[in-house]
Amino acid sequence: MKIARRSAIESTSRRHQSWPLALFVLLMALAAGPALAKNAAPAATQTGIPLNASWKQKLYAFARGKLIHPAWGWSHSERDFRLASEIAARGGLAVDKDVLFAAAFTHDIGAIGEFEKDGVDHAVRSIEIAEPLLREMGFPVQKIPAVSEAILGHMHDKVPGRRNESVVLHDADTVDFLGNVGIARRLSVTGTSPDYAGGLAKIREFADKLPGRLVTATAKRMAAPRVMEMRRFLFQIKAETANGQLP
Ligand SMILES: [Fe+2]
Ligand SMILES: [Fe+2]
Repeated sequence: MKIARRSAIESTSRRHQSWPLALFVLLMALAAGPALAKNAAPAATQTGIPLNASWKQKLYAFARGKLIHPAWGWSHSERDFRLASEIAARGGLAVDKDVLFAAAFTHDIGAIGEFEKDGVDHAVRSIEIAEPLLREMGFPVQKIPAVSEAILGHMHDKVPGRRNESVVLHDADTVDFLGNVGIARRLSVTGTSPDYAGGLAKIREFADKLPGRLVTATAKRMAAPRVMEMRRFLFQIKAETANGQLP
């Protein structure tokens, strides 16, 4: 009887001794909670594009980490995807959103610093990098040819491929060269030039030529107010620089 009581007391005492440890573990778990949540893959991109597949989360993380450029970095990819989706929706064009997402987030890789290759067109270089990268990330392999086609013809001076995804990416990429965002992008790449005159000349050239290179009626309608903004900007900057005599 005595032994049984002593054993019960010892057991209670052991339970009491383990309390500080349990409390410590609980506090550590609570402290780690926000850090774990912070490291979890986001459910959507910065502008709300759903990251509803593991390969999309991986590709977006890659873009945010590696595609750092004011004119053709990850934010341009994000705008291209949204513009291309809008052009497709308004024009009644059926598109595969997986292909569009993959192409939007890889089409300019070959124009970014460490990925560039001398003498190789940036679209061709992007395909060289995108194909193995997408495969490694678990992107559906049967859709890779459609992604490569969209990348190859994405520039405004190229003829896009026949697939709808290629057409809408080409027009989205061209529209993103227009308007206020087009002006900001162009001036952001004047880099170490002594002035921005070259940038202004490019803005004028884009306002004149790019609308005529658009394929879809929807993108042409989207381009019109953007071109007006560019002309207004060019007019105003001339007025603010002694009729363009000052740099
Ligand atoms: Fe490009
Ligand atoms: Fe682009």
